[in-house]
Amino acid sequence: MCVTVHSEDTIALVEINNPPVNATSQPVRQGLMRAIAQVEHDPAIRSAILICAGRSFVAGADIREFDKPPMEPHLPDVALALEAATKPWIAAIHGAALGGGLELALSCHYRMATATAKLGLPEVTLGLLPGAGGTVRLPRLIGAPQALKMMASGKPVEAQVAHETGLIDAIVLTDLRAETLEFARTHLTDPLPVALSKRSVPDHDPDALEQQIRKIIAKARGQKSPKAVCDALRTAVLSDATEALAAERRLFLKLKSDPQSKALRHIFFAERAVGKDLTKRAEPRPIETIGVIGGGTMGAGIAAASLLAGFRVALIERDGGALTSGMERVRKTLAGSLQRELITQSDHDTFIDALNGSTSYDGLSQSDLIVEAVFEDMDVKRAVFTELDKVAKPQAVLATNTSYLDVAQIAQAVEDPPRVIGLHFFSPAHIMKLLELVIPPGADPSAVATGAAFGKRLGKITVPAGVCDGFIGNRIMSAYRRECEYMIEDGALPAQIDETMRNFGFPMGIFEMQDLAGLDIAWAMRKRRARTRPASERYVEIADKLCEAGRFGRKTGRGWYLYDGNTAQVDPEVTTLIEAEAARKNITRCSFTQDEIMDQILLIMQREGQAILDEGIAARPDDIDVVMVNGYGFPRWRGGPMFMSKV
Ligand code: 3HC
Ligand code: NAI
Repeated sequence: MCVTVHSEDTIALVEINNPPVNATSQPVRQGLMRAIAQVEHDPAIRSAILICAGRSFVAGADIREFDKPPMEPHLPDVALALEAATKPWIAAIHGAALGGGLELALSCHYRMATATAKLGLPEVTLGLLPGAGGTVRLPRLIGAPQALKMMASGKPVEAQVAHETGLIDAIVLTDLRAETLEFARTHLTDPLPVALSKRSVPDHDPDALEQQIRKIIAKARGQKSPKAVCDALRTAVLSDATEALAAERRLFLKLKSDPQSKALRHIFFAERAVGKDLTKRAEPRPIETIGVIGGGTMGAGIAAASLLAGFRVALIERDGGALTSGMERVRKTLAGSLQRELITQSDHDTFIDALNGSTSYDGLSQSDLIVEAVFEDMDVKRAVFTELDKVAKPQAVLATNTSYLDVAQIAQAVEDPPRVIGLHFFSPAHIMKLLELVIPPGADPSAVATGAAFGKRLGKITVPAGVCDGFIGNRIMSAYRRECEYMIEDGALPAQIDETMRNFGFPMGIFEMQDLAGLDIAWAMRKRRARTRPASERYVEIADKLCEAGRFGRKTGRGWYLYDGNTAQVDPEVTTLIEAEAARKNITRCSFTQDEIMDQILLIMQREGQAILDEGIAARPDDIDVVMVNGYGFPRWRGGPMFMSKV
């Protein structure tokens, strides 16, 4: 029985127990319908509490049911039945009340939540909109602007904020069950609060609301659900609840069967499945102190991410000046988190205390996991590993943040190579969710498990990858970048390719991205590889020629584009260079449509993805999608290149 009813005097405790997150699967909905009827018809019961077993209140509808035909009773009907109850219902919330879970709570007459509870309507992130009355009841409770903010962002709010906005009636400080029972007893004789759908939407400034809607739609970049949320909210504000609920249902069903929602659901489950067995094969080693070598862009970011996750950090740089800059970078990141109120002043001070800088490798002697983030150069990295091997604890796990280099070759620089893994972070390392865990052949499973446990503590999505040039993400990116360079030699222009990628849903195109990252890094890599590049391989020299002219991208004001402050302009000099290169190679330039460009990019991504699977570099196609969506701006609502090849 996943819904049970148990009486305490005259109060019914209706408990949902449907692990892991109490999703409203069909048996739960059916159980709730029975419980609602039981409470209504039992004269001894005067009030009911909706409470959940396990780690959370209801985290939403059961997403796994969305691919099956809908089964009665439907959640909106459960919500209506709850709202129509003639005895007061109180939602007792702990953990997360999300989506359909919050919608059930909104159909209760009162809501109480623990101080650590989170409440939200994340449907938009699954390509949906709240489909059990949320778009209608929430604005009637907390006002249209606030409701729209929650529904369009999908971000849950903390109990404190929920209390301030009126979403919950009280915060429970000690015992949820006991305090809610007490609340129920106190309110037994109160008149039943008017159901939310019978209330009107509080006054608001309609112009400001329209402006809020315009901003949401502009930010959606091709995703349909944010607009649907706005449409539903408008109807909820302008129409009566019955009409608005019917409109919400129509929109919900339409979105549920849309490829965008299917893609977003695919990514939701792919992210949860990735790397699941990494910590199961072996016990992770205990880690408290993280060593970071190199305090540049990545090292400082990794140090900050580690501090924010509660680790002690030893940061090593090659000289005093570099150390001062590195420490300053870390401090600046922490100050930024404080300024954005992501951490408290006391957390900030604790993190600063947990940071130690040194120019001597001896500073690493207490580290349990050491991440190297020095220059991308095999000789430099091997020299660093040889040094750190002398001071590191024998059980410490050693990791490199290399973007492309052979981790197995780096591992050969230490006495015990199986303890070396790759931890490939993305910039900015304290923000980007993706972490590639590169596993060289023969790696110690407990070193791998430690890397995975570290990723989890940092809140990262950790994707296992084998050793090859660029692992999963950079290898695919190199392949399609090369293809884009072929296309510009053959007749397209960078601005056309970038526009195509943006229209597809990328935040920026490949050429804009290169300008942002700096063209010099890839140039250095190409020069390194020049000796081993097969003579038969087509090679486009345009990027090299840009670098030879000192055009390194945004940082030098010129790259693929010309920069006036932050604004990129097409540079006729670059167009001339492209045309001259094509002419030099006797290429007759032809025109490309946007569809042709995007089809080609996708084809190359999928082809390289398949090669990566065939070689065992990635475990599953879904892992590749997770990498491309979380590290390379592939539009989430398209599900990833491998997903697209299946539909
Ligand atoms: N339906 C089905 N399964 C779900 C689920 C859901 N709504 N939410 C989580 N799960 C599953 C996960 O797939 C995972 O399964 P697994 O163990 O087999 O991999 C398990 O529950 C645990 O999930 P997490 O690993 O994500 O656990 P966390 O503790 O990290 O996070 C959570 C818990 C915050 C609840 C997170 O799972 C989450 O955000 N869930 C989705 C919430 C959501 O989007 N709800 C809206 C659903 S749509 C809806 O309600 C429509 C309505 O308006 C009609
Ligand atoms: P960076 O140039 O900003 O920083 C490198 C730092 O290493 C410098 O501060 C330098 O002083 C320090 N250093 C060099 N030799 C050292 C030594 N022997 N001992 C101690 N410190 C030393 O470089 P960045 O961008 O941080 O890259 C570092 C590594 O991370 C590279 O392997 C790179 O490929 C990789 N990476 C970079 C990403 C990026 O977006 N920049 C993304 C993912 C990985």
